[in-house]
Order: sequence, then C-alpha cells, then structure tokens
Amino acid sequence: MASELVNVNEFQELARRALPKMYFDYYNGGAEDEHTLRENTEAFRRITFRPRVLLDVSRIDMSTTILGYPTSAPIMIAPTGLHKFAHPEGEVATARAAAACNTIMAMSFAADCTLEEVASSCNAIRFFQIYVCKRRDVTAVLVQRAERNGFKAIMLTVDTPRLGRREADIKNKMIAPQPKNLEVLLSTEAVSDTGSKFAAFAAETLDPSLCWKDIDWLRSVTSLPILVKGVLTAEDAIKAMEVGVAGIVVSNHGARQLDYSPATITVLEEVVRAVGGKIPVLIDGGVRRGTDIFKALALGAQAVMIGRPVLYGLAAKGENGVRRVIEMLKDELELTMALSGCPTVKDITRSHVRTEYDRFNC
Ligand code: FNR
Repeated sequence: MASELVNVNEFQELARRALPKMYFDYYNGGAEDEHTLRENTEAFRRITFRPRVLLDVSRIDMSTTILGYPTSAPIMIAPTGLHKFAHPEGEVATARAAAACNTIMAMSFAADCTLEEVASSCNAIRFFQIYVCKRRDVTAVLVQRAERNGFKAIMLTVDTPRLGRREADIKNKMIAPQPKNLEVLLSTEAVSDTGSKFAAFAAETLDPSLCWKDIDWLRSVTSLPILVKGVLTAEDAIKAMEVGVAGIVVSNHGARQLDYSPATITVLEEVVRAVGGKIPVLIDGGVRRGTDIFKALALGAQAVMIGRPVLYGLAAKGENGVRRVIEMLKDELELTMALSGCPTVKDITRSHVRTEYDRFNC
C-alpha cells in the first residue's frame, strides 16, 4: 500500500510490477549506455551539506513562486508523454494531483489527454510543453489552443531535433498512439524497421531546422511567456536571454537524448552564473529526494521539475500516487531545511552545499 512506502524510489518497483514491460521500459529508460541516466542521480549524491545550527527553525515555509505563480513548494511536474500507459485517466489524474498539492504541471506535447480535457478537469496552474513541428501551422494552432484553455506558459523543448536512441524502446518495438492533441491536425502513420515507431513519428513530425531566431516566430503566435527546456551550457543560456525568453530549464531530457551529456546538477551553476538573476532558472533530471531539491536551490535554481517519479506514482496509485510522490518530496525538503537552518527557501544559499568543484579548489 502507498501508505507503507517511505520514499519516492520505492514507487519505481511498484510501477514495474503494475505495468506491461514495454510501458515500464518507455518510462524508465534512457539513451544508449544510460551513462547520463545514472549520473543524473549519482551527481546529486556527490554534493554534501554545510548545515548551520542554532537558528530558529520552529516554522518552515517552503512556499515560493514560479514565473510569478505561487506554489506550495519549489517543485513542479515535468512534461512527460503518454500518461495513459500508467493510468486510464492519464494527464487528467496528474493535473488533479498538481492542483491538490498546489503546484504547477507542465503538460507534454505528447500527452494522451487533450488540452481541453485537462483544462476542464481542475484548477491546477498549467504550462504547455511543445516541440516545433515541420508544419509550423500545427504548432501555432496547438499554442493558441493552450492559451485559450488557460495554460500560463509555453515550455519549448530544444534538445530534441531528433529523438535519442532509446534501446529498450527499439528492442520492445515500442508503439505509441499519436499525441492526442495532434490527432485532428496531422495524419501520419509512422513506420520504421530500424528504430522504434515512436522515434519514426518524431522524425517525420518534428522540425530539426529549428534555430534561436525561430523564438521570434513563436512569440509572434502567442502572448504567453516562453521558457526553453534543455539548456546545458552558459553559451546557450546567454543566447536564450538574447532572444528574450522568460525562463530556462536546465535539462538533459531525463537522459533520454544525448548520452554522456552532463548530469544536470553539475552544470546548473554555470547556467545560473551566466543568467545572473535576470530570468528564473529551473532544473530537472534525477531529483528523487528533498535533499536533491535543497541542493538545486542552493546552486541557484528557482525550482525543480520531477519526471519519472510522477509516472511511477501514477502507475502505482493513479492521482493519489502522484500526490503521495509530491508530498514525500515536500516532507523531505521541509526536514532538510530544518536540519540545515533554513526556515524559508530564500534562506537557502550557495554556502549551504559543498560540490566536487569546491573540494578540488579548496
Ligand atoms: C520525458 N521528458 C519529456 N520532455 C519533454 O520536453 N517532452 C516530453 O514529451 C517528454 N516526455 C518524457 C517521457 C518520459 C517517459 C520521460 C521519463 C521523460 C523529459 C522530462 O520532461 C524531464 O526532463 C525528465 O523526465 C526529468 O528527469 P527525471 O525526473 O525523470 O529523472
């Protein structure tokens, strides 16, 4: 039973048991050797704390804002595709959990529910994640539908000119339904002998020629703020600011794209320094503990996003499973803040952690 679980990692095993192998592998897997997949979590473990004592931590306040929207904690739901593999209610259940936990959900371009279904299901604050299609008119319609349905921001994923090579999906001959929101807009039936059908669909649909200048085009079709997701270097963070985005997500797509790209937590500080506080920086990849969230905040992130733990919670227990995952992370973060001498998120500073880089340089 979910009440007997003591941490987020335990949901992974429940999900493995609950799901057909092809679905679990799709959620769980990373690209090629899965080096980055392991590193995303391992790199958090190499960061230690510099806790402060004898500070009044009788009340801990985790609340914050993300793009100006208040949330109960610096935790958001990352955009992940195909939630109906996990549960028949799909993204509707995930959105309801986000609303119950007073946090924000980023809904994926590859969602199994429509924008309209999710919007009418609850009052969660929602962002919409997009890829830009070769057919720009299709992307424009999607973005405008999101705006009409009360989504608050567009999260443009920029690390996917092609789909990464996910070997478990290839072995399983992974087949996925066409993203629900594209159904009436596109009629493609992707078939491939060499990759997964999902990869073939992406190759046929997504635009690999997308460039920084195209952010201007995106801005011309929406008045919503635009975040770019998938930045891993100072150079690209600077470019993102030059083209006027509202925020950056440091992400390697949960290690599903370029294997041997760095663990996100190891490059967060580089991006934060380049941005210099001008726009918010979020991070995802390997966040499994409240201590991980604290470390990300100490290194300058405004909030973290979580991907797989949400899917495991959804597969194990539907909406309640997702709620439980978020509550566990919040409980752990609250304790970490108390034990580190930080009563509010603003009190969490760079001096509260020691990274590998610090150790080499002291
Ligand atoms: C993803 N991710 C993703 N990202 C995105 O921009 N659009 C998408 O449709 C998807 N789909 C997707 C499916 C699955 C099954 C996973 C696991 C991930 C990446 C996601 O937004 C996020 O970057 C990572 O999941 C974060 O890493 P963790 O928390 O899963 O380790």
